[in-house]
Parts: sequence; structure tokens; C-alpha cells
Amino acid sequence: MTGRVFAVASGKGGVGKTTTAVNLAAVMAEADRSVVLVDYDLGMSNVGAVLDVEPAEATLHDVLAGEADALDAVAEARGEFDAMVGGTHIEDFGRADPSKLREVAEDLRAEYDVTIVDTGGGLSHDTTVPLGLADDVLLVSTPQVAALENTAKTLDLAERVGGDVTGLILTRVGGSAVDVEAAVERIDAPLLGTIPEDGAVADSEEAGEPLVVYAPENPAAQSYRELGYELLGESPPVSFRDGEAEGEVSAGAAFAEVADEDEPERQSLLSRLTGGRLG
Ligand SMILES: Nc1ncnc2c1ncn2[C@@H]1O[C@H](COP(=O)(O)OP(=O)(O)OP(=O)(O)O)[C@@H](O)[C@H]1O
Ligand SMILES: [Mg+2]
Repeated sequence: MTGRVFAVASGKGGVGKTTTAVNLAAVMAEADRSVVLVDYDLGMSNVGAVLDVEPAEATLHDVLAGEADALDAVAEARGEFDAMVGGTHIEDFGRADPSKLREVAEDLRAEYDVTIVDTGGGLSHDTTVPLGLADDVLLVSTPQVAALENTAKTLDLAERVGGDVTGLILTRVGGSAVDVEAAVERIDAPLLGTIPEDGAVADSEEAGEPLVVYAPENPAAQSYRELGYELLGESPPVSFRDGEAEGEVSAGAAFAEVADEDEPERQSLLSRLTGGRLG
């Protein structure tokens, strides 16, 4: 088996990379793929802070230090997928060799349908390595100008290291459709999806679960579901609660509706799609 490797990257920190990585992992698992999420923010590992992950035999840092095999650092996370998290000691950072991710990714490719690599912000070595080896680089940004400018730099960097940039995911999108248009103009990559601002994201982190598991019918969860299935080249089942596909909706059509509507309308997107069956 040769699995597909995604890298989730951004220029600026705190824009929603980890949220995106965790939720895409959960959605792709829901779509019956075997999935492993790798926390490649080697300095400030944070997947473990937002997701309950059982301790594994080894940490990612042990693997990158050549002291353990990749699969020894894989543990179960809530949401039907596996996760590989780093150690939490400062010394861990010093002994890890970021370029070892290449070997780790090859080992994971052989084992999983999908590997999702969450990265740190900025231009450090541990950010650059995943950009070069992923089959799909997913850029994450909020619609704010500063974040977009840094995202343009990350796009440039990804291209320089021979990365395959699939497109841009805009997160924490608030009010009007104007933000989205401005963003699309600034970044020379396809817009893959938009994720609305959703207060339940913080609650799901508190609960240690992906949002798509914690509050599946919430607007951001629904957007992550559409995005995840779209990336797999499939349409999401409309009725995800009982796993019965009662109809199909294209992510493109749903996005057009979201972009055109005001905030209160967006809350009821799912309701309109499902005829009110799910809330
Ligand atoms: N759609 C959303 N709606 C509301 N809050 C969100 C959303 N997405 C992310 N957040 C919040 O934004 C903050 C940053 O998110 P996240 O940790 O995913 O970003 P990051 O890019 O991984 O950050 P870092 O660069 O520090 O690793 C978190 O507090 C998270 O709860
Ligand atoms: Mg993060």
C-alpha cells in the first residue's frame, strides 16, 4: 500500500492548522480511510493538548533521534484514527533530527491510507521538511491581511522546496463574502474551502475530541466534513449521524451558499440541506 501524505502549513502561527489537521484526520477516518496524524510542531507540540491521545511506547522525538521505530510512536486518538505525538521536554527538541521525517513518512505510507502532518508556523527546518515531502500541501490562513501575507511566503517556500501545494483553506471566516474574495486574490493557489468561526472549536479542544466528533452538526464541523471528503474526491453523506447517505451535496455548492449568506443563515445551512432533520 502507498498512502497519501498531507502537510498542513501556514505562515503565521495560531491560524487553525492543528484544528484543521485534527478534524481532517477524523473526517477521513469517518470516510473509512486508515489515518495517522503526526504532530510535526517539534518545538511546541500541541496535538496532545487538544486531543486525548493514549501514550505510545515511544514519542516522535525518540523516532527522530533514531531511538525508536516509527510505528512504536503511534497511539490511538479519539475519533477512530491514530496519532504520533512528540515529547514535551525541552531536551527532546535538541535530539530530534527533523529531516528524519522522510523515513518516518515512508514507514507511515506503507501502513496507512492517509498521513496528515501538522506543522509549526514560520520558516523553521521542521516546517520546511514536510512541505517538500507531502503529496498535498494544504495552506491554512485566516482572512486577515497579515496572515495572508505570511501564507504567500509559505507558498513561495513550498514551491522552492519542490512541494505540491494543493490549495488554501481559509479558517475562522466571520462576516461577509468580501474577506474571501480578497484572500483568493492575494494567494496564488486554489481555494479548497472555508471554515467559519465557531465557538465550539474551543469546547471540543477542552473535551479532547475533534470538533467533527464533538459537535458533528456545527457549521465548522460540516465545513471540515465537506473539505475532507472533497480532498478524497468523494461527496460527503448528508446524513452523517447514522452513516446513511440519503443524498449528496457538492462541497462547491455548499460553499457558494455559505459565501453568499449572512451569519444567521449560515447556522442553518445543514438544516436546509437536510430539510431540518438534523437541527
Ligand atoms: N473555526 C474556528 N472557530 C473558532 N476558533 C477557532 C477556529 N479554528 C481554530 N480556532 C481557535 O484558534 C486558536 C488557534 O487554533 P490552532 O491551534 O488550530 O492554530 P495553529 O495554527 O495550529 O496554531 P500554532 O501555530 O500555535 O500551532 C485555538 O484557540 C482554536 O481554538
Ligand atoms: Mg498548531
